[in-house]
Amino acid sequence: MLNWDETEVIPPPLHDMNVGAQSQYAASPAHDEAHTLTGLEGIETNAGRVDVSAKRIINATADVNQLLPMKYTWAWEKYLAGCNNHWMPTEVSMQADIALWKGREGLTTDERAMIMRNLGFFATAESLVANNIVLAIYKQVTNPECRQYLLRQAFEEAVHTHTFQYIVESLGLAEGELFNMYREVPSITAKDAWALKYTKNLADGDFDTSTTEGAQDFMRDLVAFYVVFEGMWFYTGFAQILSLGRRNKMTGIAEQYQYIMRDESIHMNFGIDLINQIKIENPHLWTEPFKAEVSTMLREAAELEVAYARDTMPHGLLGLNAEMCAEYLHFIANRRCNQIGLAELFPGAGNPFPWMSEVIDLKKEKNFFETRVTDYQTGGALSW
Ligand SMILES: [Fe+2]
Ligand SMILES: [Fe+2]
Repeated sequence: MLNWDETEVIPPPLHDMNVGAQSQYAASPAHDEAHTLTGLEGIETNAGRVDVSAKRIINATADVNQLLPMKYTWAWEKYLAGCNNHWMPTEVSMQADIALWKGREGLTTDERAMIMRNLGFFATAESLVANNIVLAIYKQVTNPECRQYLLRQAFEEAVHTHTFQYIVESLGLAEGELFNMYREVPSITAKDAWALKYTKNLADGDFDTSTTEGAQDFMRDLVAFYVVFEGMWFYTGFAQILSLGRRNKMTGIAEQYQYIMRDESIHMNFGIDLINQIKIENPHLWTEPFKAEVSTMLREAAELEVAYARDTMPHGLLGLNAEMCAEYLHFIANRRCNQIGLAELFPGAGNPFPWMSEVIDLKKEKNFFETRVTDYQTGGALSW
């Protein structure tokens, strides 16, 4: 089973990043010939068989429908890990949350406001991520094992959206308010609009990755969604809810967030592997000006998140305030920089939530929220 432990700063090494393997990747020329395969081309009969070394993340000339022979085993391992982690939100009891939410005691006005803003951000963020996979990313990834993972990820995003439907239904929340926050709360709109522009670039019907410009647009989208959305913004959201869970408040939602965080950790690491593999195969894309641009993207994203944290927690809560969220975000941003080979943006940022690494490790936290055993696998993966 894949170790999804976020406490490891550096993701599992790419399996084919050793020196010998690298030699098979010729640098992609900055060519203009559009030959991006989608899988919808006519069937080529009497053609040569797929050469595994011809598989590439983008602009492959190898058939995109042939999973085997496999080249990127890291993508397949993440697909298997995602399947092993299968869960459904309805498996989590909401009784304690309902009693607390509907009771007069137990939650302060500030805590309620933070919970609503947090749910409001995630409720539609999951859809934005899913749209990006299905409408932008999938078509451009010309590799079957990566597509296999993308299909699994797309389903997991649907499960996450389902989670917010289930929470709204269980607690009797105002669904219109929650699902419109991305249109009505400026700090949420600002984040979503920032990311959406990168999807829109790719959704243009004429878009392809055969040019340097197109391939860099694709990289920008991967950074915006895998590194920023799922790898930075989600983590401060997780910290907010899990902080409540540690205080035995909203334990059902906190447990669901643990499962979502486990999924998202794999999503993020897949995206980072994708980015790093594209860099290996297309070194002409990763120029100094482009690296500087990506660093600027991460800095902008950090500023948007700090504004959101202030908006979500204007007064601070027990054990949590906007400044701590900002510092945690800077700490996480530094990790993401390391993972994609950029200089740290916030040198010296500390981790104000050391307990997050404990919560992330489900194996150690079976009774963390005293709800149920959270370290479970689906039937097919059970060992007796
Ligand atoms: Fe998600
Ligand atoms: Fe995700």
